[in-house]
Amino acid sequence: MARETAASDARDIAAAVEVLRGGGLVLMPTETVYGLAADARNPKAVAALYAAKGRPSFNPLIAHVADLATARKLARFDHRAEQLAQRFWPGPLTLVAPVLDRFAVCDLARAGLETVAVRAPAHPVAQRLLHAFGGVLVAPSANRSGRPSPTTLADAIEETGDFAGAALEGGACTIGVESSVVGLLDAALWLRAGGLPRAEIEALIGPLQEAGADAKRTPGRLALHYAPNAPVRLDARAPRPGEAFLSFGEGPETEPLRFSLSEAGDVVEAAQRLFAALRAADRLNPIAIAVAPIPTTGLGEAINDRLRRAAGHIG
Ligand code: TXA
Ligand code: MG
Repeated sequence: MARETAASDARDIAAAVEVLRGGGLVLMPTETVYGLAADARNPKAVAALYAAKGRPSFNPLIAHVADLATARKLARFDHRAEQLAQRFWPGPLTLVAPVLDRFAVCDLARAGLETVAVRAPAHPVAQRLLHAFGGVLVAPSANRSGRPSPTTLADAIEETGDFAGAALEGGACTIGVESSVVGLLDAALWLRAGGLPRAEIEALIGPLQEAGADAKRTPGRLALHYAPNAPVRLDARAPRPGEAFLSFGEGPETEPLRFSLSEAGDVVEAAQRLFAALRAADRLNPIAIAVAPIPTTGLGEAINDRLRRAAGHIG
């Protein structure tokens, strides 16, 4: 596998397109987290993708498209979906809607559901890849199933690089947590807190309903997820001996195992740093990773969701 260190250029994109056309997998940067991409039409490629991640095949994938025009061919977008896509795409928002084209996103990629999750990523490298490929790419986060998502190419390569035929450099992800997922079926459902705050979505289309525990609606919501090797202890005011500490706001100055999520107490910055900090703390093999309390406003909802899952608490 060719690993690019400088930002990916047209030649790297062309090589990645060849890999995808041949049924291979490509590490792709997005503004949220790095993804492991495959041709959404190709069941063999999608099967290889599930295998690379060790992901259960009942957990469907997100179809990545260049733009809204492509999304409209895949899924039946109602008025609310149109409004959301027009306002927030390209960006960290995934819309789940009834499937229209069952071949463009194969059954395996949808886990056999009658719905499909679609997102247009904003990252310029992802956009260039989608345009050059000229089709739809399914791309789960590039971590092995149950592990923290990668937010740099190095972390993505550490997770699933062995399975990728090409890897595109796109720098550190600017958002750092996965896209928010909204279902637009009969009701408008809040399926996953993520990189677009719930309040911004509700300001446009009104209140979202909680998805609850309905496995058909929320196939990905396994309790243990995003987990490092070390146990995670939440709402910690300070670390105990042997613990690594993820601080928020001003923390103890001299603590050697401390990783700051945001000195300024900014949840946007904390989201950017979250997964890299969990990984860095985990590499020290601490007794546990203690995490300071994080506000639940804005991106804080997604951060707290990922942390609860990393700690093994049911979201
Ligand atoms: O930011 C992101 O969304 C990243 C980047 C790479 O784009 N991708 C990502 O994919 O997070 P993944 O596979 O790790 O998470 C996809 C989530 C899962 O929770 C899955 O259950 C949900 O989307 N999902 C996919 N299709 C669905 C559907 N038809 N109905 C409900 N949830 C669905
Ligand atoms: Mg994931």
